[in-house]
Amino acid sequence: MEIIIQPTPAEATTIAARFLAGIIAAKPEAVLGLATGSTPEALYRELVSLKLDWSKITTFNLDEYVGISPQHPQSYHSFMWENLFRHVNVHIKNVNIPDGLANNIPASCESYERKIGSAGGIDVQLLGIGTSGHIGFNEPTSSLASRTRIKTLTPQTLQDNARFFGSESAVPHHVITMGIGTILESRHCLLLAFGKKKARAIAEAVEGPITAMNPASALQMHPKVTVVLDAEAASELKMQEYYRWVYEQKPDWQKI
Ligand code: F6R
Repeated sequence: MEIIIQPTPAEATTIAARFLAGIIAAKPEAVLGLATGSTPEALYRELVSLKLDWSKITTFNLDEYVGISPQHPQSYHSFMWENLFRHVNVHIKNVNIPDGLANNIPASCESYERKIGSAGGIDVQLLGIGTSGHIGFNEPTSSLASRTRIKTLTPQTLQDNARFFGSESAVPHHVITMGIGTILESRHCLLLAFGKKKARAIAEAVEGPITAMNPASALQMHPKVTVVLDAEAASELKMQEYYRWVYEQKPDWQKI
């Protein structure tokens, strides 16, 4: 795992944006795995401002709430169109987001997995992390080999996401999420985390044992993971000075 610690979320975001812009320039037909939530909002703004060519890019989102329509203002469909897709020249046919209204959810999840396979797999999977350690909506005790499926959110995540819905009771209890096994098949995982609230989950994911109690810790088994943090999210890492030192020693060509 490569750990990059920046003083502020803005500086961390710029590193992630430069990296993704480089991927899009080097591989115009890249397949990107995308995340929603507060963490990547500034990243999407920065990517939009870079005026990149998204015409051949394919995207797969990590997750979607079950039971709300794509038009619902808090659906992840709405989030993606508001924050990114409507501002870039991506083709709607190349945009993939789990269907929260599918009649047959298991069949729809299998079809999502097949689509990822037919697209050639995900080149870079962008990830945030929940305070519970979830990636996608793989809550603690999710199988580390899991595939795209329906999950029930924990009370902690309902509480964390109440800010988007106005109240905790309005947050859907079920979601469709790529599995941890699905995420681990991406060629490169880019995890962003900002703020003190994420510090514990990050410390456990990066320096703790690999455990389903912190699903993000499964990333320790992936050969290419970059974790970009602000100082607050890094504040509980025991080896933080070492990670800073390693990053400073890197020649420019080796940096993401
Ligand atoms: C969203 C997702 C979640 C979020 C996580 C952090 O697509 O997969 O894992 O990344 O809940 O959310 P924020 O960024 O709002 O703190």
